[in-house]
Amino acid sequence: PYFEELRGFRDLEIKIKQTFDLERVIITPGDSDTDPWVKDELGKRAVSFLQSQLNNKQTVAVTGGTSMAAVAKMMAPTDLGKGSMFVPARGGLGERVENQANTICAEMANKMKGDYRLLYVPDPLSEETYHSIIEEPGVKETLHIIKQANIVMHGIGDAFTMAKRRKAEKNVLEKLESGKAVSEAFGYYFDQNGRIVHKVRTVGMQLEDLSHIKTVVAIAGGHSKAKAIQSYFRQGKSNVLITDEGAATALIKDL
Ligand code: BG6
Repeated sequence: PYFEELRGFRDLEIKIKQTFDLERVIITPGDSDTDPWVKDELGKRAVSFLQSQLNNKQTVAVTGGTSMAAVAKMMAPTDLGKGSMFVPARGGLGERVENQANTICAEMANKMKGDYRLLYVPDPLSEETYHSIIEEPGVKETLHIIKQANIVMHGIGDAFTMAKRRKAEKNVLEKLESGKAVSEAFGYYFDQNGRIVHKVRTVGMQLEDLSHIKTVVAIAGGHSKAKAIQSYFRQGKSNVLITDEGAATALIKDL
């Protein structure tokens, strides 16, 4: 039965890989919506994937969120990250400190003996501040490194769950509603066809930058995220998906 389970996931992985035109799909058993430990397993799978990619001096950009926090948490100390640089993908997006990209990035770098740079920018960022802050030397340096990222790891969220968690203003919520937002990643909100409905104003990586990056890994599980995962991959900028059985089964059912 154990081998059958593995084989079953292999079929599921191939199906999802073909449907969303991905290079790699990794599925872990269980559903992180119902069993919180599954998120840790998801984190473990993401750690092994990252470590398999870390040959000489990489720049790794990470987002925030509870799934990415699980990746950092599940990382055992190693020196595989020696010579590598860890950066947050974008500036603050309204998350609690333990779920912020800066926090996760520093924890990962420390555990892997890598180096890191952080982004300290107000959150949310006003139009005027945006233009002056990108000229600050410290910010400029980090932004320059972010542009050189060769590995990106990010979460995918349900649009309204994320907007509420980030305490989005009423006008933003209205915009998301009228635009029928379904998913969110990196502070971008997408509708079911993967079209951008709204974008949080902050510095760092922009969606179009992802096209030049070799390895873009999405980490998202739980059956409740299936529609969001589907919506995000409609615009197809990530090439690896690490998910759980709960989300994977729901994804296939929805097709
Ligand atoms: C955010 C990422 O920090 O985490 C988003 O920037 C993502 O890309 C979100 O939508 C997902 O959060 P979680 O807690 O569901 O992993």
